[in-house]
Amino acid sequence: MIVLLLFTLIALAIAHSPSSLSTSQTLRLKQTRDICSRKVHCILNKEAMEGPFYVPHPLIRTNITEDRPGIPLSLEITVLNAKNCSVVPNAFVDIWHADAMGEYSGWATGSLLSSTSHLTARGTPIESSHWLRGVQATDDSGVARFNTVWPGWYRGRSTHIHLRIHSGNVTLSHGVFLGGERVAHTGQLFFADELVTEVSKTREPYVSRRKTLLPRMNGDDGIFVGSDGGDQIVDVQADEDVFHGSVTVGIDPESDHHESPMRPPHFGRPGRSPWRDFLAAVFGALIVVAVWALAKLFLRWRQARSGYSAVQLSDDDGAYSLTKPR
Ligand SMILES: *[C@@H]1O[C@H](CO)[C@@H](O)[C@H](O)[C@H]1NC(C)=O
Ligand SMILES: *[C@@H]1O[C@H](CO)[C@@H](O)[C@H](O)[C@H]1NC(C)=O
Ligand SMILES: *[C@@H]1O[C@H](CO)[C@@H](O)[C@H](O)[C@H]1NC(C)=O
Repeated sequence: MIVLLLFTLIALAIAHSPSSLSTSQTLRLKQTRDICSRKVHCILNKEAMEGPFYVPHPLIRTNITEDRPGIPLSLEITVLNAKNCSVVPNAFVDIWHADAMGEYSGWATGSLLSSTSHLTARGTPIESSHWLRGVQATDDSGVARFNTVWPGWYRGRSTHIHLRIHSGNVTLSHGVFLGGERVAHTGQLFFADELVTEVSKTREPYVSRRKTLLPRMNGDDGIFVGSDGGDQIVDVQADEDVFHGSVTVGIDPESDHHESPMRPPHFGRPGRSPWRDFLAAVFGALIVVAVWALAKLFLRWRQARSGYSAVQLSDDDGAYSLTKPR
């Protein structure tokens, strides 16, 4: 039993211990610099996982609302180069988010979000809708603008907007973004808890949504916590008819994080090296063998102690009796 416990502990340690941090992972610039005589909070924002709902080839458009109901939200995303705090023009900002009911276009089947299938790696969209998705290039001031609606929430997550920022050359065709040279940033934008709560209590269709599911607060969202979401809270001016949101995202335009959709690609949780997975598998197999061997030993010991090897038929009267060997 002690041996077994030891195996389990070693296997767990191998599977879960963080691998060593590379310099790029620990790179984190946090400084405030004066750009064009205004103070800008200039940081290299931490990445957050892409999640399973990205749909490739988004439309190039400002207004991504289509037919989705909700409070109109005009969103201004400023992209900064965190290395020298200058704005990044001509970066392609690609955003996607859930509607007021917590659904994503391409996957809007109602039941899907409540199942565990959304926890698997990037899948194939099951239908062709593309509301609340779009891409815009940043202008000379490094700003990309969108018109959308205030996002809804779904199980397990606080209210958020996904984004990818493509830098370098891009391929465009007939109003569609086909791909970029580099994915310089994959992240998520968040909103202040108080405002999310207020909207969910006072404005339709969010009030209806709240009857099914309460919005989750940022502090209870592992992705918010893990990606330092506090640095990516959209500054919102909430007018009666329209909300105006603005946020600054600090990136390294030279970096490229084309990687698994379920892991923060570059910063945050590092990928595990293959030999560690291999060792974990070997220890897993050893545990199975150890359990099997122990079970077998135990059965043999019990048999030896009782001394009876089998139930046998006695010779003349046809009754059953236990026969002791030797
Ligand atoms: C965006 O498009 C929707 C309909 O597709 C429209 O109702 C809305 O007024 C548009 N928003 C802006 C700011 O143009
Ligand atoms: C910051 O770096 C980028 C290249 O990474 C360069 O194009 C830009 O001119 C630099 N800005 C300043 C103010 O040095
Ligand atoms: C990007 O575009 C520039 C100018 O059009 C070109 O010189 C360069 O080779 C392109 N880079 C790649 C990787 O395609």
